[in-house]
Order: sequence, then structure tokens, then C-alpha cells
Amino acid sequence: MCVSDALLLSEEKRPASLSIPSRFQHRDAAGNILHCSPPLALAPMVGLSHSALRLLLLELGGVGLFFSEMLSVTRLPIENEIVSPFLCRTAAESPFFYQIFVSPGQDVFPAVERLHSLNAQGIDLNLGCPAPALRKQGAGSFMPLDSIKKTVAGLRKATELPLSAKIRLGRKLDEKGLISFCTMLEDEGIDLLTVHGRLQGEKFCRKPRWDWIAKVKSAVRVPVIANGGIFTVDDARNCLDQSRADGLMLGRGAVCRPWLFADIARSLYGIELPPEPPVEEVYFRFITLLNERFLPERRLGRLKQFTFYYAQNFSFGHHLASGVQNSSSLEEASDRAAAFFAAAPESSSF
Ligand SMILES: Cc1cc2nc3c(=O)[nH]c(=O)nc-3n(C[C@H](O)[C@H](O)[C@H](O)COP(=O)(O)O)c2cc1C
Repeated sequence: MCVSDALLLSEEKRPASLSIPSRFQHRDAAGNILHCSPPLALAPMVGLSHSALRLLLLELGGVGLFFSEMLSVTRLPIENEIVSPFLCRTAAESPFFYQIFVSPGQDVFPAVERLHSLNAQGIDLNLGCPAPALRKQGAGSFMPLDSIKKTVAGLRKATELPLSAKIRLGRKLDEKGLISFCTMLEDEGIDLLTVHGRLQGEKFCRKPRWDWIAKVKSAVRVPVIANGGIFTVDDARNCLDQSRADGLMLGRGAVCRPWLFADIARSLYGIELPPEPPVEEVYFRFITLLNERFLPERRLGRLKQFTFYYAQNFSFGHHLASGVQNSSSLEEASDRAAAFFAAAPESSSF
């Protein structure tokens, strides 16, 4: 058998959708199983995973599940979803998990009630983020084990929605510890696990350990989504092969190349989608969506964050990034981007 035959065979076996069952399925006559098709999720990313990016991704196709950026359980109940850049969302942005971070001892009930009223299709607990801001609060990857257990149990009591948790591989490589942590999460009521294949202290430049995600996958009954370092279709294929995961989560790769979901959906799941538009068209469509979705004062910062990643499509992308970074209005940023595309239209290949 040649290599391409082997690839075809393994791709034929790849289920093109992911079902996320809720523990409460047996109680819900309407069926509480969430179908994500294809099994490709947008990662939670502060300042990046918002309504404008989600709508852009939906237009390009191939994305099957959305996670919000992390949200504080104390702010959630008082945040105004019409104007909040963290909460504004259209019905099309679905299936949708809101990600929360929780400090030890915090009551999750009011936040969960709010998420019910926002028509959440699932709730994700951030257990992997190593950001210093979360260290101070004992949240994310700094949450102590007993608090994690109590929080998951509290969430399970508060909602019948599918519950997920996003984790890293732990503080050090420890297979037994990782497995017992994941089975604890499952026993407490987690329905879906996303595993970012790096240790707590590891930087994004380090290659993720997709093979370690396979250790989790073989130990738990709930579906597992693999995350970390997917920037190309080949990365997606290798990650799925090494992790044996049920689906993939894309973060920076999807900001840099918003058409990557569609590329993966076509190549690995055989889904037919229209060809991608030119890079500059995608960029200006994003600006239009920022204008449509956000108050004026919320737009430029988000364009700067997006451009930091998007500029990597170009050999001289630092000119685009710095031009936008030094702009004081969206119009100025847009003009500078237009001048950049006119002068250096060729994108670098990945
Ligand atoms: C700017 C930025 C913000 C992030 N914010 C969050 C967050 O709010 N919650 C979270 O769980 N992870 C967060 N992450 C981590 C991503 O969800 C993801 O795990 C990480 O980027 C690795 O995936 P990637 O290689 O596909 O980008 C963030 C990452 C970046 C780059």
C-alpha cells in the first residue's frame, strides 16, 4: 500500500461530526446531544474569539463549534450582552460554549443562570490558562485540585447543558497524574475535554505533544478535542493521527488564516466549500464585520490584535502590522492596510 492509500483509508474512517452528549440526555426527550460538524472548534482567545471573527469564519466555512474568550463568573451576571464585546453574538454563531474562569470558593450559580439566558449550548471551564492575571486569582491552570472538584460539581448541579473543560498536560510530564486528573473531571460530570498539548509553563514556540493527548483519549469515555500548534492541513492531519482525538481546536492558526477551517474541512472531512477569497478581501471583510458588531471604541484594538497574526501571511507582514498598530483610527488603519496590499500583494506560503 502506498502512502496516499494509507492516508485515504485513515481519512475515510474519520467521523465528520462530533457528538457531545450531556449527562442529562436521558431526561431530555428533545435529545440533548450537540452535533458539531465538522469536529473543528475555534479556541477561546482573549480579544480574538469574538463575534466579528466568528462571522468571518462562518462565511469562509469549515468551523463546527465556537468557544468564547474566557469570562469572569463575577462579571458575567452584570455584563450587558447588547453592547458587551465579550457577549455580543448572533444566532448563527452556534453551537456555542461560553468559557468561564473561576476562583476558589466562587459561586458559579448566578453566572450559569446568565449563560442559560444567553442561550448557551455548553459551558467550558478554563483549567489550562497560565496567564499571570489568573495566577493572582487562583484560576485557570492555577486552580487547586480540591477547588476544581468542587467547581465542576457545582457547575454540574447548576446546569444540564454539556460541560467541558480545557486543560494543559499538567505542571510536569506525569502520565498517571494526568489520567487521574482527567478521569476525576469525567467522574464529576465533564462531558467534553479539550487538551492543549503543552505543560503549564511551556511557551507557544515549543512543539506541542500531540502524542500525550492520545494518552488522555484512551483513558476517558468523553470526547476529546486536541489543541495546539495547528497552522496547516498537514498539522491537522498529523495532530489527529497522533492524538487519536475526536476533533481539533484551532487558535492562532485560525486568526492568521481564517480559511484554514475550510481547508481542513475539505481535505480531511471531504466537505465541499467555495474557494477562498483573496487575502486582502478577507481582511477588509473583517473590518466591515468589526464595524457591524462593535461600538466604535471597541473596533481598533481588536483590529490591531487580529492584524498581529494576519500579517504573518506576508513576507513583509511586519510593515502591515506596524502600520495598523500605529494608527489612531479604524479608517487610518484601513487606509494603511490598503496601501500595504497594493504594494506587496503576494502572500508567503506556509
Ligand atoms: C491571544 C490569546 C488569547 C488566549 N486566550 C485564552 C482564553 O481566554 N482561554 C483559554 O483557555 N485559552 C486561551 N488561549 C490559548 C488558546 O485557546 C490555545 O490553547 C493556544 O493558543 C494554543 O492553540 P493554537 O496553537 O492553535 O493557538 C489564548 C491564546 C492566545 C494566543
